[in-house]
Amino acid sequence: MSESLLRARHSARSFKNQEIDTKLIKDIIAEAQWAPSWCNSQPWKAYVLTGEAAKKMHESHHTNVMGNKKSWTEVVPPQFTDKDWSAAEWTNMRDFWQAGDVSPFPEDGSTDKLGFNKESAWDFHAPAIVYITIPKNATMFSAYDAGAFGYGITLAAREQGVDCIPAYEFIRYPQEIRQVIDIPEDEAIFMGIGLGYAQENEDLNRINEFEKHPRAKTDDILQIVK
Ligand SMILES: Cc1cc2nc3c(=O)[nH]c(=O)nc-3n(C[C@H](O)[C@H](O)[C@H](O)COP(=O)(O)O)c2cc1C
Repeated sequence: MSESLLRARHSARSFKNQEIDTKLIKDIIAEAQWAPSWCNSQPWKAYVLTGEAAKKMHESHHTNVMGNKKSWTEVVPPQFTDKDWSAAEWTNMRDFWQAGDVSPFPEDGSTDKLGFNKESAWDFHAPAIVYITIPKNATMFSAYDAGAFGYGITLAAREQGVDCIPAYEFIRYPQEIRQVIDIPEDEAIFMGIGLGYAQENEDLNRINEFEKHPRAKTDDILQIVK
């Protein structure tokens, strides 16, 4: 099988200082709206920061991270404990960390061999950030639907030559997001996706080499019964 769009997509973690055309962003979101959802309920909403607004958000994010400001997302995130992850999930996460020989959560501010450091890489300086919300009282089925919508954004973006990264990092400080975007109180900020054009890998910035993460063997996650 030739490389499909699904395999061509991977997360980018460093972006060029190059805006994405607003119409292109709208087209990407419009394509993603074709995601399936429970009874076509389409529980998602999308809010996009771009231009100066996105730059200001990067600055405030940077200040918060460097100041070790406590943060909590509006949807309870998993913790790194056995309660929240199975043995198979731990194995996949370890493979992911080892693949890049990089910790995605460097607390000491150090720069690892991919140039991933606290100062430059935390929210990746994406020129556009899409925030996906779902109703605060949503069930897990709506979360499934919003995930399909988010994945649709990543694929539609790839199809248009736009790189992206879905990241928890974008939604760690929901109050800051609510200060600049009028998001109704009954919606929870569920996920953030950074969009932009991936920077070429350079000696001091090789973070985008951290891609093509291994996947579990298909036979380990699949059972076909005839
Ligand atoms: C819900 C979710 C949260 C994520 N949060 C982060 C994050 O905070 N920081 C980060 O560097 N990558 C984050 N990622 C990206 C994943 O690490 C990445 O999708 C995974 O390693 C597979 O790699 P690929 O997207 O290149 O195929 C997140 C992905 C998802 C789906």
